[in-house]
Amino acid sequence: MSAIISASILSADFTKLGEEIKRIIAAGSDWIHFDVMDGSFVDNISYGSPVLKSVKNCTGAPFDVHLMVVNPEKHIETFAKAGADNITFHLEAADNPAELIDKIHALGVSAGVSVKPKTPVEKVFELCPKADMILVMTVEPGYGGQGFISETLEKISALRRFCDENGYDIHIEVDGGIDANTAKLVKNAGADVLVSGSYLFKAENAEEAVESLKF
Ligand code: DX5
Ligand code: ZN
Repeated sequence: MSAIISASILSADFTKLGEEIKRIIAAGSDWIHFDVMDGSFVDNISYGSPVLKSVKNCTGAPFDVHLMVVNPEKHIETFAKAGADNITFHLEAADNPAELIDKIHALGVSAGVSVKPKTPVEKVFELCPKADMILVMTVEPGYGGQGFISETLEKISALRRFCDENGYDIHIEVDGGIDANTAKLVKNAGADVLVSGSYLFKAENAEEAVESLKF
């Protein structure tokens, strides 16, 4: 089975964001990954709901929103209204993650929970019956273009094993440093949704780049 490719527009050319989104979807990407950084949960600041609202109708592809923010509960409604199809928040930033998943679902949006590279993956196990997706970060969140942290592979395998053993049919997403080589490693470990930013947007041939991640 081929992986779902979620293209991170953090590495797109912002002077023509709408065209970049259309280009990367036409090249075969399945979802658009929308990284929200608040300068507090992570050092960097990216973009927020007004940008999502303005690019939402560029494509029929789902928008996969990754909230790297403190107090994620404060922002879910705004992002749902702006057009998010999935909202992923960080376990490290949530006071009551189980309740937050319910609140995201009540907004008619699918819910993901993310863990940073140093957070043990076992901490999300109890959320697997509720969540639609677990995002295992394969770099420290905050910037595009970083190197893949190979120690995260064991976390992906452990999560895949846990889901299979318990019959939890949820997505396992990975984010950070994904290219043709690391894509093979994470898929072997059990990931089925691959976020990729710089590798896809800087590629000379986007179609070939997407293909190299999917298969
Ligand atoms: C990092 C972001 C990623 C980033 C990935 O904090 O969550 O989505 O855009 O970029 P690449 O694929 O360049 O590592
Ligand atoms: Zn991301």
